[in-house]
Parts: sequence; C-alpha cells; structure tokens
Amino acid sequence: MKGLFLTLEGIDGAGKSSHLDALEALFRSQGRQVTRTREPGGTPLAETLRGLVLEQSMDPLTESLLVFAARRDHVVQVIEPALARRDVVLCDRFSDATFAYQGAGRGFDLQVLATLERWVQGLYGADSGALLQPDLTLWFDLAPEVAAERLAGARLPDRFESQPLEFFRRVAGGYAARAAAAPRFARIDAGQPREQVWQQVEAALAERGLVADPSGGAP
Ligand code: TYD
Repeated sequence: MKGLFLTLEGIDGAGKSSHLDALEALFRSQGRQVTRTREPGGTPLAETLRGLVLEQSMDPLTESLLVFAARRDHVVQVIEPALARRDVVLCDRFSDATFAYQGAGRGFDLQVLATLERWVQGLYGADSGALLQPDLTLWFDLAPEVAAERLAGARLPDRFESQPLEFFRRVAGGYAARAAAAPRFARIDAGQPREQVWQQVEAALAERGLVADPSGGAP
C-alpha cells in the first residue's frame, strides 16, 4: 500500500467540497488513514496567506507567489509527511487551480507558473523534472452559468466568487486544457443530481482500482 494523493478541482459553485465527507468515509471504511486538507491553506501559515489572497486586492504575480508560497508550506508540512505515512491525502484544490484561476482566469504567464510549480513541487529540487502531482484529480465540470446560479446569494462572495461570468468561462477552459493534457484527471459531470455525481466519483475511484467496485465487481 502506498500513499494516495487525490485532489478535487472545479470552478466555484461546482459542488466539489460537498463530496469530501463521503470520500473520507469511503476511504476510512477501507481501512485507510485519511489526511483531509485544502488549498490555499492546510497549515497555519498557509491559512493566513489564504485570507490575504481571498480578501486583499493584488496583482496576478503577487497572487501567484502567495498561492505557491502557501503551497510550499503545505507540501512540506502536511502533504509529503502524510504520503510518507501512506495516508490518503484528500486535498480540496491544488496547483491545477493556480493554472486555471491565475493562469487562464487572470491571464497570468503559464511559463512563470510552471517555473514556480517546479520550485514548489520539485521532488528532488527544481531541476530534477520530477514533480509532486496528484495521483488522481476529480474535476467537477459544470457550465459557468449553472455554477453562477448555484452561488447566487449563497454567502458574501470572496475576490474570486465575485468575478464576472467571463472570468469563470476562462477558468473552466483552463481546467479543460489541464485535463486534456494529463491522464490523472477524471471528469465528473457536476451538472447531474448530487447522488449521480457521487456515483461518478465512486466509479472513477473503482475504475482506477483505488476502492472496491461499488457495483460489486472485482476491485
Ligand atoms: P474554494 O476552494 O472554492 O473554497 P470555498 O469552498 O471555501 O470557497 O475557494 C478557494 C478559492 O481560491 C477559489 O475561488 C479558487 C481560488 N484559488 C486560486 O485562485 N488559486 C489557487 O491556486 C487555489 C488553490 C485556489
């Protein structure tokens, strides 16, 4: 048994976080230890940076540096130790969100983001080429118009949630481009009723042999 790094991604309002409890329960029922965390955040320092990124205005480079600074602390303090213990790390967003929000959404330079990614997630230093990446990314894909309806009036919006529809169209495009480039993505159609969304999540895990097949077949 090895550690498993699983991330949840999608535009605001796609409903990813509402499946975290069930995911944690599913892995625990299979005898796994689960470390549940989120980005930006997951450590005291990174949670402080999260507050700044979500509330203060800043230029896209500052925003990118802060999310990667938060990520560095989180990787070193939480994610790597948990994977070394062979935990399942359930992480609500990771660097795909940076490529989608700061890159596609804000239009910030993807090459600079890729450089920061190497510094922060380089397993044996920035030049080794080997990056810490999720084993599986559940991508909750939802039309930005539908997500906006779901978010409307839900609570006081933060700096991202208050962006116009056009911003979320770009973010959604950013996720689609990431997903097309990496087989670790499982696309979940988040437009379906919640129970069916959960069934897709279970199926994505079962297909990859990460949990027993919910339909009763071989794991
Ligand atoms: P989110 O994960 O949606 O948490 P909540 O459910 O509490 O709103 O909020 C985090 C926000 O931060 C979200 O709008 C996306 C944004 N974000 C970035 O812009 N870049 C990043 O690298 C990450 C991890 C998140």
